[in-house]
Amino acid sequence: MTLTGLGYLGFHANSIEDWTSYGAQFLGLQLAERSAGALAFRMDDRKQRVLIHGETDRRPIFGWELEDGAAADRLATALERASVKVNIMDKALAGQRRVAGGLTFQDPGGNRLEAFYGPEIATDPFTPGRSHSGFKTGALGLGHIVLNTTKLDADVAFYTQLLGFKLSDYVTKPFRAMFFHINGRHHSLALIEWPEQSIHHLMLEMFSLDDVGQGYDLALREEGRIATTLGRHTNDFMTSFYSNSPSGFLVESGWGGRVIDPANWDAFEVVEGPSLWGHDRNWLPPEKREQAAQMRMQAARENVRAPVQVTPGNFEVAAGACPWWGDVKKAAE
Ligand code: FE2
Repeated sequence: MTLTGLGYLGFHANSIEDWTSYGAQFLGLQLAERSAGALAFRMDDRKQRVLIHGETDRRPIFGWELEDGAAADRLATALERASVKVNIMDKALAGQRRVAGGLTFQDPGGNRLEAFYGPEIATDPFTPGRSHSGFKTGALGLGHIVLNTTKLDADVAFYTQLLGFKLSDYVTKPFRAMFFHINGRHHSLALIEWPEQSIHHLMLEMFSLDDVGQGYDLALREEGRIATTLGRHTNDFMTSFYSNSPSGFLVESGWGGRVIDPANWDAFEVVEGPSLWGHDRNWLPPEKREQAAQMRMQAARENVRAPVQVTPGNFEVAAGACPWWGDVKKAAE
């Protein structure tokens, strides 16, 4: 695989003031730097992960991570061979991104992509903007990004053939969406077929389920903040809710996403719909929203359940087995 993870992101905002409180006090990012027209947020040991800018070029910036400079050279060659225009990051841009170097190019829909290596690591510890247990990043990257696209087929060819993304799975109802991995995270990128080009959402995964629940409490206190109610996804098993960000797209605050083994993974169609329960999407047209609700009801009737996905340190196996439940489980096997 060429890319190793989602490294950093940059978003345009009309008012960076709105992002100051949304990013820090609501999402729990650390405001690391602020200048007249820009903000830089941390979410782990990296010097920056999320940038907010007021540039005239309003397009978002997607920073995908590479192993090293040699990987950047190989990618540049592959892109140029496919007639994709590539620029090498100059010192000033690499400094702004706080990386050693990288490339800039565009996907078929005109999204600004950057592929970088050598991220700068902070010497001081991460300090969350609101009290929480931390974001799950590391080898899984900073989270996942989901794009609405009018060019689904061209994008799929671009991201899989040139950038090395592998299909995890896909849904066709209530909308057509395809999910792609480049590391153990079930998806670092997903593409939704949609009448316009835009960001659908950014997902940030938190270490504790309570971090998500406490964020949900904050969102409930703000009129119009929640875009998708608390629920659980069918494919990556994420328990999450979605909030409206000041930049117009949604941010999914999640817990308990599954980690896959990319070497032993076959893509398939998820027929139960995108969510096991919850996730009422108030941004969908009414008939699609109802279709999604019907799919959840059916999944529940058909006994679709998935085990919770825990990481060391964030769970405890409860003492005391229940013989009655044990017998029921055994009988079902
Ligand atoms: Fe998501």
